[in-house]
Amino acid sequence: MTPLEIRVEAGDITQAKANAIVVGLFEGIKTPGGATAALDRAMDGAISRLIEDGEIKGKEGEVTVIHTLGRLPAARVAVVGLGKQEQFSLQKVRDATATALRHLRRLGCQTVASVVLGAGAGGLDPQECAQAMAEGAVMGLYRFRRYKAEEDEREVQELTLVEMQQERLEALRRGVGLGITLAQAANHARDLANEPANILTPVEMARRAQDLAQDAGLECEVWEEGRIREMGMGALLGVAAGSAQPPRLIVMRYRGRPGSPETVGLLGKGITFDSGGISLKPAQGMEEMKGDMSGAAAVIACMWALGKLRPPINVTAILPVAENMPSGSALKPGDILRARNGKTIEVINTDAEGRLILADAICYARELGLSPLIDVATLTGAMAIALGPAATGFFANDDALAQRIMQAAEKSGERMWRFPIIQEYRESLRSDVADIKNVGDRYGGAISAAEFLRFFVEETPWAHIDMAPTDNVDRDKGIWVKGATGIPTRTLVHLLLHMAQEE
Ligand code: BES
Ligand code: ZN
Ligand code: ZN
Repeated sequence: MTPLEIRVEAGDITQAKANAIVVGLFEGIKTPGGATAALDRAMDGAISRLIEDGEIKGKEGEVTVIHTLGRLPAARVAVVGLGKQEQFSLQKVRDATATALRHLRRLGCQTVASVVLGAGAGGLDPQECAQAMAEGAVMGLYRFRRYKAEEDEREVQELTLVEMQQERLEALRRGVGLGITLAQAANHARDLANEPANILTPVEMARRAQDLAQDAGLECEVWEEGRIREMGMGALLGVAAGSAQPPRLIVMRYRGRPGSPETVGLLGKGITFDSGGISLKPAQGMEEMKGDMSGAAAVIACMWALGKLRPPINVTAILPVAENMPSGSALKPGDILRARNGKTIEVINTDAEGRLILADAICYARELGLSPLIDVATLTGAMAIALGPAATGFFANDDALAQRIMQAAEKSGERMWRFPIIQEYRESLRSDVADIKNVGDRYGGAISAAEFLRFFVEETPWAHIDMAPTDNVDRDKGIWVKGATGIPTRTLVHLLLHMAQEE
């Protein structure tokens, strides 16, 4: 998938043969140390001179390229800003790597050598830094160019991490290996979410899930409409009713602990396009709703990573997939649907469709005895309003699970924030004619949406990740490339790796 090859080699960075060498610099440092100092000397003080002149500040996002003009085997040195040393983190390593490599790609560099950013003056664990660099490189260089006739020949093909200490190589290589898999998983999620809805229909999404499952050695079952009907999933069918595209339900299984009956359930919202249905959305920005299957995409991508990494844990993914469209056969406000568990739902707004399809998935997951359940969904605009684009909200009815999610998010660098479950808001979901209605009060909309899901979850340990704020970004920044983010794929993988270790 990625043409980029990442190698780890022992040696002296000043002697690296590449189109460019990358070194880092903290903000406010006047006299660079370590590898940056060695390169500075080799270039007769060019770096320190630029710092002195104020051209290199070491700020985050800053990349300064200096031509070596024959003074070094490499053609260029790129000094990448690491920001303030006291605010340094692995996320800064990911972002700096991504920013530097995108910059060098624009310059046409095909081969890049770098020190392990963060492992020197940064004081971070070298293996984790190597992992972060691999994540930054693979995610930062991601592009979705499938539909562009004009090819871009410029591509970074080789990144070599050059390390002085021979005894570190093995750990660095392990870090790089894990980083590549995590980042490739995130990029798989991005590929799915960036794909337009005329191509990525529910049928096509199921086909791609099967391809990824096969690549990673997972079981994958796809239910067609008839089976979904037989299984009494009236909520999923209701959402799909307005579309010419039939729905699918995807079940993926990873068994890393065959002796154990315990199986985690991952659920993902797979709305391949959310027009709002009869409760039609405004035209402005509606194209972004091709990404309304990002929750399912992240779950599929996480399953792929599990298949590649093979931790000792069992995980089953259940992905309801449908297109939400208005038409003569569409679901209407006032309609009453019957979910898999027999409970009836009065549809107040057909644009609150994610919770409908998830209701059926939750019922089925509970029947299978999956626990805990973790659902991932671009569920509410309210969550996006609450958090803005820099954080993903989640809910949990289990404090230990919430804590593990926070830890996993910390590891991935995907910022997450826990929201409260407020039982009182269940009242706003009371229907006069059915067991529940699909929309509550406008205020606290993300919380009443969670409350709707909890109606079906009951007492099962559960977390609900509302990624509506973060499924998409509007510009390139660090590891984020304009378009789908692939959030929270890496957080899910870390969570399950951690849970596998705990058993
Ligand atoms: N897919 C949307 C939520 C969404 C909004 C995701 C913005 C990403 C960005 C969801 O199906 C929806 O439309 N929710 C409604 C619910 C409302 C009708 C209760 C919303 O949030 O407005
Ligand atoms: Zn909607
Ligand atoms: Zn939606």
